[in-house]
Amino acid sequence: MAQTVFVLNGPNLNLLGKRQPEIYGHETLDDVRTQCEAAGAPHGIAIELKQSNHEGQIIDWIHEARERAAGIIINPGAFTHTSVAILDALNAFEGPVLEVHISNVHKRESFRHHSYVSLRAEGVMAGFGVQGYSLAVLRMATLLS
Ligand code: DQA
Repeated sequence: MAQTVFVLNGPNLNLLGKRQPEIYGHETLDDVRTQCEAAGAPHGIAIELKQSNHEGQIIDWIHEARERAAGIIINPGAFTHTSVAILDALNAFEGPVLEVHISNVHKRESFRHHSYVSLRAEGVMAGFGVQGYSLAVLRMATLLS
């Protein structure tokens, strides 16, 4: 029986592939979905990739994950650095949480160096480009096995 993993994406990530490609690359969120599905399938992991520009929607999906998902992979975008509410929602989720950043946030502006989500995440991928998502899926497979 497949285990469902939510791959949640925050603001501006709908523009992936078009937005600042020198930082975020040319691949789109649909490419990320395909890569995550390919990484998860051999491990019996079904991917549900979602994106919203709205904090409350992301929180509602984290609540939904309490009933429907075994693990959460999340790139909260700029909410990483601001959202205690997303941290609180993740703290109400019992399964493993992995945090992904396409860019190496530690090489960028100092306001990107702090992550509220890292207080909850079992692990963080940063600076691996979009490949970080599928690597996180592989790690999730280990954590769920
Ligand atoms: C990001 C890094 C954040 O600082 C930024 O606000 C994003 C994307 C990343 O994937 O590298 O929107 O989370």
